[in-house]
Formats: sequence, structure tokens, C-alpha cells
Amino acid sequence: MKPVKVGLLGLGTVGGGTVNVLKRNAEEIARRAGRGIVITHAAARDISKARICDTTGITLTTDPCEVVDNPELDVIVELIGGDGLAWEMVNRAIDNGKHVVTANKALIAKYGNHIFAKAQQKGVMVAFEAAVAGGIPIIKAIREGLAANRIEWLAGIINGTGNFILTEMRDKGRDFADVLAEAQRLGYAEADPTFDVEGIDAAHKLTILAAIAFGIPLQFDKVYTEGITRITREDVAYAEQLGYRIKHLGVARRTNGGIELRVHPTLIPARRLIANVDGVMNSVLVKGDAVGPTLYYGAGAGAEPTASAVVADLVDVVRTLTSDPNNRVPHLAFQPDALHDIPILPMEQVETAYYLRLQAQDKPGVLADVTRILGDLDISIEAVIQKEPSEEDSTVPVILLTRRVREEKMNRAIAQIEALAAISAPVMRMRMESLK
Ligand code: NAP
Ligand code: HSE
Repeated sequence: MKPVKVGLLGLGTVGGGTVNVLKRNAEEIARRAGRGIVITHAAARDISKARICDTTGITLTTDPCEVVDNPELDVIVELIGGDGLAWEMVNRAIDNGKHVVTANKALIAKYGNHIFAKAQQKGVMVAFEAAVAGGIPIIKAIREGLAANRIEWLAGIINGTGNFILTEMRDKGRDFADVLAEAQRLGYAEADPTFDVEGIDAAHKLTILAAIAFGIPLQFDKVYTEGITRITREDVAYAEQLGYRIKHLGVARRTNGGIELRVHPTLIPARRLIANVDGVMNSVLVKGDAVGPTLYYGAGAGAEPTASAVVADLVDVVRTLTSDPNNRVPHLAFQPDALHDIPILPMEQVETAYYLRLQAQDKPGVLADVTRILGDLDISIEAVIQKEPSEEDSTVPVILLTRRVREEKMNRAIAQIEALAAISAPVMRMRMESLK
């Protein structure tokens, strides 16, 4: 059988990795797919630039439309990123009746509902395994492997750049900005790295995971999102002293009132496996009612780990090229007419335990005032640490761990604590998860 011809948009970190993996493993891939898979055309901004891959035999252009409109191509792989040009090209490819593979989580999280409806109409596939957790086949695991289960919750380290930064800060005491620059050099970070460090990228990924786990539409605008930029090296050290690790987690949980969708720095007991996932590695815990807890681990970013997911999607597409479109695995795991409209809970209604760091004047009665405020709101304290004042500073850090309480109540407590004359800086608050 003739090889399937693929057009590639983008020859950067993931595009380059995809060319390399497809070439190196061409024979094994063809044995799995039943046909060869060949990239014949590719677009990039600057086609004279040195690449991490060998582009011999690939027709290059600076105009992505030339690729998308080429009638010889069956599949378009979108690896440009963002939701401008990429959105236009994916729409155009679907209009042209071509299957699409993409690693673009921003595009799927924001416009996936529209893209999948259009793809369904046109009878084409849009595959996006690489959009979540890099090389970990987490979409396939939830969508197909756990199809028997009612998923109760999932929690994951789903941004490699953020986890790399937190690990280097903890293990080597390195500065935030310095580690971020290294993540950019290594090709882990997004084109705009604030997406990584402010949790936007993780929120894109959580939107996708929640949709396929619970059978709900993609709702990126409802995710509560907090980044890692306010975490200090001291917070990392205090958490360690108390037996916890700080991880930037995405959490999606089904509750009686609705679904929690949140991305924020989180203290996790240090003995949990996921607390020991370091560097650029990602990990996702998924709890199903039948299977119990399951854990997935692997590289969350980088050229070849991400290419591994892109190429797996290409193999899936090629295997189903001749199948009836109505009998394919649905894009969002559930049949499009069977999606539920379960409400997403506002953050004020979410209940967690908390880590609080206060900067307090070193004088009698301050801790008593703080504990009175918490007590009056029925917030139980689990642990307290008060540090020695330093020579230059008359204020001391006080660290409190609380039991579980609704966010709305904790907001009131923090406002009252910050209003005390003896509290000299905004309270640093992080949520805690036992992940039992
Ligand atoms: P990248 O290295 O910046 O590559 C982007 C590519 O798009 C470049 O080759 C660039 O061309 C090309 N491009 C940009 N604008 C273009 C235009 N107007 N016309 C033609 N080509 C254009 O990005 P990346 O890291 O590979 O990421 C690609 C996608 O994968 C993004 O959606 C990202 O979120 C996702 N992703 C990345 C990773 C990772 O580890 N990097 C992991 C998972 C998912 P030039 O090279 O000529 O500038
Ligand atoms: N910038 C992303 C990360 C790439 O660091 O996780 C993988 O999606």
C-alpha cells in the first residue's frame, strides 16, 4: 500500500522531533500502522534556519496554506502553537477534508468544542495526545483504557517547565529566573513562558483532561488558575520541614455540587509517589470507581517525548483512515450528544486544607490574635512554626497548616489577619491535598 503523505506546520522543537522520530523508526511505525507515514511538505517562518532535524526530501515553504491546501496530503500536523494562525490552519485543513494531529493545548482548550463538531461533520479525525503531559499517553489511557469507570477525580503535574523550576529551586537553591531561562533553552517552555509559570498552560491541559474524564464540554474560562511566581525558596524549605513538597497541580474533582477545576501550587505529603516527580517529568493520578487510583508518569515536554505522542496519533489516524467515521473513538471520549452540563464549582465553594505564611511583628499577642480569628471562623490549626527573627528584620515568618475549610471562609480569615497592625505583608496561602 502507498505511504500516507503528511504535511507538517512548524519545524521547531516538536516539529523537528517529529521528523526525527518518524525517520528513525520508519520501519517499526509502518509495521504498526500497516502503511508507511511520510512527511512530504512542511512550513516554517524561516526555511533557511538550521534545524534539529534533517529536512532532505521534504518540500519547504513559508506559507502554511500551501501545505494545508495541497490535495496530495491526507493528514496535517499542526505544531506552530498559539490560537491565531494555528486556529485558521486547523479550520482550513478540516474544511479541506484532512485529518489533523496537533500538540496545541491552547487551541483545543479554547476552541475544541467547535473544532470537534466541525471535524465530526466532515468525517475527519482531530488527534491531540501530545497536548497534555508531553509523552505520557494520558488521553488514550482515560479515553479508552479507563472507559469502564466513573472517574472520581484526577490530579496532575502537567507542566514540565513549572516542575523543572520548582525542583531546581528546592534541590539546588537556584533562582526562579535563571531556571526559567534554562527551560526555555531546552525547548520546554511555551513561546510566552508566562503561560507556564502562571498556570495557563496547565489550565489548558486540565480543561482537556476534565472533558474526557467527566464527559463535559471544554470550559477553559471556568478553571481557577494560580501560578508559581509567588513561591519563595523559604516556602519550599518550610514545606519540607513539615513533611510536604510543593507541586504545581491541576486538580479536577467530581463533587455533589459540581466539578472542581483548579490549578495552583499545592502542598502534597512528601511520601506520595507524585510528590517525588521531579524536573521536566509529569505525572497524573486518576481515580476511577472500578480501578481505584492509577498513576501515569513520563517526560512532560521536550522534542522527542512530545514527538512520541504526535507520531502515536499519526499511527492511530492511519489505522482508521478507512473506518466508518461514526464508529471511531469520540474526540472527547463520550459521544458528542451525550455530554453532560454538570456545573463547574466557583473557587469559593471548594474545600481544602491550607498552608499560610504570615510575616508578623515579633511581639506578644500576635499569634493569639491570629488563632482567635481562625478559631472564630471554626478553622482548626494542624501545625504552627514560628521562626527566629533575623538581624536585619524585626518581623518573623509564622507558618500555619489548617484542616480542611471552604475557600470562602479562608478568604474572610485572611482578610482579617492582613488587617492586623502586627501583620506586615500579604499572607501567602497555598492549598494542600492529601491525594489519598
Ligand atoms: P517552536 O519551537 O516555537 O516551533 C514553532 C514552529 O512554528 C517553528 O518552526 C516556527 O518557524 C513555526 N511558525 C511560527 N509561525 C509561523 C508562521 N507564521 N508560518 C509558518 N511557520 C510558523 O514551538 P514548539 O515548542 O515546537 O511547540 C509547538 C506546539 O507544541 C505548541 O502548541 C506547544 O504548546 C506544543 N507543545 C510543545 C511542547 C514542548 O516541549 N516544546 C510539548 C508539548 C506540546 P521557525 O522555526 O522558522 O521560527
Ligand atoms: N511548556 C509546556 C510544559 C510544554 O512545560 O509543560 C509541554 O506541554
